[in-house]
Amino acid sequence: MSDYRRITIASAGQHTGEPVEIAGWLYNLRKSGKIIFPIIRDGSGTIQCVGVKAQLPEDVFEALKNLTQESSVIIRGRMRAEARAQGGFEMDIEGAEIVQRVSEEHPYPITPKEHGVEFLFDQRHLHLRSRRQHAILKIRHEIIKAVRDYFDSNGFTLVDCPIFTPAACEGTTTLFEVDYFEDEKVYLTQSGQLYNEATAAAFGKTYCFGPTFRAEKSKTRRHLTEFWMVEPEMAYADLEDVKRVAEELIVFMVGRVLENRKTELATLERDITKLEAIKPPFPRISYDEAVEILKRKGSEIEWGGDFGGTDETLLSEEFDRPVMVDRYPAAVKAFYFQPAPERPEVALGVDVLASEGYGEVIGGGQRVHDYDLLVQRIKDHNLPPEAFQWYLDLRRFGSVPHGGFGMGIERAVAWICGLEHIRETIAFPRMLYRTRP
Ligand code: 4AD
Ligand code: MG
Repeated sequence: MSDYRRITIASAGQHTGEPVEIAGWLYNLRKSGKIIFPIIRDGSGTIQCVGVKAQLPEDVFEALKNLTQESSVIIRGRMRAEARAQGGFEMDIEGAEIVQRVSEEHPYPITPKEHGVEFLFDQRHLHLRSRRQHAILKIRHEIIKAVRDYFDSNGFTLVDCPIFTPAACEGTTTLFEVDYFEDEKVYLTQSGQLYNEATAAAFGKTYCFGPTFRAEKSKTRRHLTEFWMVEPEMAYADLEDVKRVAEELIVFMVGRVLENRKTELATLERDITKLEAIKPPFPRISYDEAVEILKRKGSEIEWGGDFGGTDETLLSEEFDRPVMVDRYPAAVKAFYFQPAPERPEVALGVDVLASEGYGEVIGGGQRVHDYDLLVQRIKDHNLPPEAFQWYLDLRRFGSVPHGGFGMGIERAVAWICGLEHIRETIAFPRMLYRTRP
C-alpha cells in the first residue's frame, strides 16, 4: 500500500483527492447501518473518516466497525473538503490497518462521559490525549517558544542554573532538602536568580529557564511544588528597566498565542477579547496605593502585610490588563532586594498581577549591589554566610545596579488559557498531594 503517502491530519487540506494515510488512534466512532464514521486523532489534530460498507473489503469494514476507543490504527484513503466538518475536511476510507486493538476486557478508562478530577489526574498519562488537555499543552508550548524568542532576539544569553543548590534564595520555609554524598545536604532550587546575577555580570543580559521547586504546604489553585520558571537578569539595570522588560515580554507572549493558537483558544472557549486587551502601557501602582484600593474594597490588609491570593484577585479586578505593583515593604520580601533610596523601609521590587484575577505571574526587582548592606541583609535573614561568599564576590568585583525577574510558566498558561486551576497547565503536575503518575 506504499502508494498511500503518510500525512498528518493538520495538513489534510494540502492533500485533497490524493491517496494518503494517517496514523493515529480511534477517538470516537459513530455508526449508522452501512456507514461508519471513525474519528481519528494523530496528535496534530482530529478528523472524521467515512467508511462505506459497499466500498470496502468485508474484513476491513468489520474491523473498523467494531474498533474500540484508543485502539491504534492506520487509515488509508482520500481527503475531501467538507464545510460542516471540524477542521474543514473529511477522509473517505479505502483501507485500514489495526496496529493494536484495545480489548473489551480492559477498555480505555476515560470515556466521553464526565469523570471526577481525581480520577482524571490518576489517569493523567492517558488524560493528555483529550482535546482540552491537548489544546492547553499546545498553548503552553507556544508560550515557552515565545518567551525564548523574546529573550533570544533581545540580546539575552541563555545560561541555565543548577538544580542542586547549597542555599535558599526565596526563604527557608519552602526548601526541599536532598541527601547528597557524604552527609552533605543540598536543596532543590527555588530560583536561579543568585546564579543569574553572576552570569549577568559576565554576559550583560542573561536568562535561565528550568524546573523550580517549592515545598508549598498550601493547597491552592495557583501553587505547584515543581514548576518551570523563566528568569532574566540584567546588569546596569534598575527597577524601571525590569518593569519595561516584564511588560514587553507579556505583550509579546500574549500576541503570539493570539496569532498562532486561535483554534486551541476556541477549544477552551477562551474569551479572547480579554487577551486582546493586554496592550501596553500596563498600569503601574505602588504598594501604598494598592493597600488603599484594597481597603476601599473591604480587604483586611494593613500596611506592612503581604497580599494574599484574594487581595491579588481584588486588585486585578480594577484593571482590564495586568497591573504592576512596586515598592513593597522590605520586611515581607526576600533578602536580596535593594531598598528604595528615599525610603529604605520599602524594597525596589515589583509584582505583575495578571488580569481577570489570576494573581502574581511575575515577581522581581532591583538587587542590593552594595557589599556591606548585603552582608547585613544576609545576617538579618539568618542565612548561613559561608554559603553566600561567592555571591558576595559579585559585590567585591565590579558591582553594578542590576535586576531581573521570574515568571512562572504555569501561572502564565493558566491565565492565558483561562483555567480554573494550575494543575492542567503541565503534563504531570506535582502538588502537595500529588506525585503520581
Ligand atoms: O516571586 P518569586 O518567588 O520570585 C523569585 O523566585 C525571584 N527569585 C525571581 C527573580 O527575580 N529571578 O517567583 C517568581 C514567579 C511568581 O511570580 C510565580 O509566577 C511563580 O514564579 N511561582 C510559582 N508558580 C507555581 N507554583 C508555585 N509554587 C510558584 N511560586 C512562584
Ligand atoms: Mg513573588
